[in-house]
Amino acid sequence: MLETQHLKDFSITSWYEQFKSVTLRTIIINLDTELLNKFRNEDYQSDIEDVCPLEYINEIKNALNSLNNEAFVKDNWHAPLDARFMSFCNTLKVTDISDLILYFTSSDIIMNDFENKNFDSFCIALKPWMNIHPASEFRCIVINNILRGISPRDWPTYYAHFAEEGPGIINTISTFFKEHICNKFPKNTYIFDVFITYPDAITLVDFSPLTSKTNLYAFTWKEIQNIMKKGCTEEVAPVFRYLENDIGIMSRGDALFKLSEPH
Ligand SMILES: Nc1ncnc2c1ncn2[C@@H]1O[C@H](COP(=O)(O)OP(=O)(O)O)[C@@H](O)[C@H]1O
Ligand SMILES: [Mg+2]
Repeated sequence: MLETQHLKDFSITSWYEQFKSVTLRTIIINLDTELLNKFRNEDYQSDIEDVCPLEYINEIKNALNSLNNEAFVKDNWHAPLDARFMSFCNTLKVTDISDLILYFTSSDIIMNDFENKNFDSFCIALKPWMNIHPASEFRCIVINNILRGISPRDWPTYYAHFAEEGPGIINTISTFFKEHICNKFPKNTYIFDVFITYPDAITLVDFSPLTSKTNLYAFTWKEIQNIMKKGCTEEVAPVFRYLENDIGIMSRGDALFKLSEPH
């Protein structure tokens, strides 16, 4: 379980205002206490009308309306990605309040977050639904305020255009980092996620902690931990690591084994 300050710093309720101009519009609604209790006791079987006041339900409905009833939902930190199978065509699109309740109650990720007893400002964060191309999403690793690593979030998938566009991708992300992120986020070491709308429009998706549990995609925790231990404060160019070959029939496990070595 993350410590309270960590939970606070990485909560969208803490960082949204400051990064509003570079991330997707987000409507943040405090989580109703009754609803939180129902979630915590895993006894959400009723209609939302039986649990929350009408004004609260209307607040959510209005938020969804203002997003054209096509929204992406998260709690303070996470999306209910493990509830994807419950959604229409596996998309996790929220079109009405019952989708939202269904995804939240079906998600262990969300339920684990709500278990945190050392935090009391839980929220529902609603964003416009975007068709984000998997190849356009990148995870960026910042150590001691230096951008050290960039990985595609769709890993390990081979995208031929990364070889040619790699330098441009590094440049777009580095410039964005320097202008909008570095020294603005209240941590020295962390992860931020972006998506790039080609050629170079870039949008912040999320911040998250850099720990042994973080999915680092193309990087291994061991190599990142080594960089952290060295405590390097010199500016160096980030490494963009992507799959360089179409590995064809190789299994995912083999691919990870083969490609986890730095190159
Ligand atoms: N506004 C959105 N509309 C549609 N899909 C989204 C949106 N925001 C994020 N996603 C998808 O959901 C994935 C997880 O989003 P993210 O905000 O990083 O959640 P988490 O912190 O739980 O990983 C992203 O990789 C992206 O594919
Ligand atoms: Mg995230």
